[in-house]
Amino acid sequence: MAYKTIQVKTEGRVGVITFSRPEALNALCDELTTELATVLTAFEKDGGIGCVVLTGSKKAFAAGADIKELQARDFVSLYMQDPFAETWEAVARFRKPIIAAVSGYALGGGCEIAMMCDFIIASQTAKFGQPEINLGVMPGAGGTQRLPRAVGKAKAMDMCLTGRMMDAEEAERSGLVSRVVPAEDLLDVAMEAAEAIAVKSLPVAMMTKESVNRAYEIGLTEGVRFERRVFQSQFALEDQSEGMSAFAEKRAAHFKHR
Ligand code: CAA
Repeated sequence: MAYKTIQVKTEGRVGVITFSRPEALNALCDELTTELATVLTAFEKDGGIGCVVLTGSKKAFAAGADIKELQARDFVSLYMQDPFAETWEAVARFRKPIIAAVSGYALGGGCEIAMMCDFIIASQTAKFGQPEINLGVMPGAGGTQRLPRAVGKAKAMDMCLTGRMMDAEEAERSGLVSRVVPAEDLLDVAMEAAEAIAVKSLPVAMMTKESVNRAYEIGLTEGVRFERRVFQSQFALEDQSEGMSAFAEKRAAHFKHR
């Protein structure tokens, strides 16, 4: 299927989605987030996909929600038909592993979509920010909630209240990104990570993601109890017996990916 605002390809078991609105620094218009949600739904159903990489251009991962579109909205229209709840959240709801590969600007909704991914690999040129306050609004796609969980209250307040950008080095130091790599290596490194994930047992990778995400939602005692139950349930999978047998037999494991 042809898309207008994103490019989609698969390489082995990895799905790659590239934002493609160069004329607007990949601003996340309704058409783009609808196309993104459509592809993620298809990838989720596709047993051949084990991991997804979400990326943009060298200059911009995404410069935020499309301000020219937002300008025309009012309270009632946003309340009745909220794009952030309807299409953007498809990234947060996606159950398979998804990596953001960020180069250039990841601002406003761009930073928020990156934070909805499981982890962010950044190029040395990446710049993160929540500049919505300069537009007379605040982050509206999870930024006030996910940013403090990622970088702590002090940095999150600093970024959301001043609207300043954080470079890649500060983002790594603060825990917003998992690794920083030279710009020319970004996609290769993200693909390597995605391929490493995509050959693992898919149900185990999905359960691991679900379990780590629980850490953001519930207390330690409940979280550990949840983890223990999921861990125990994995002993019902053939992938558990294959993984452990392979280790004992000193050979590579061949997981079923389903
Ligand atoms: N929405 C719509 N168009 C955008 C855009 C956005 N978020 N960001 C950039 N563009 C457009 C510009 O209007 C410009 O288009 P024209 O050539 O037609 O004028 C084109 O992209 C190139 O942008 P600039 O000329 O501004 O490029 P620059 O290199 O001088 O500056 C920038 C780059 C600092 C990222 C600047 O474009 C900028 O500040 N963009 C807006 C960032 C922002 O405020 N993001 C938050 C959006 S609101 C939001 O995201 C709400 C939410 O929480 C969900």
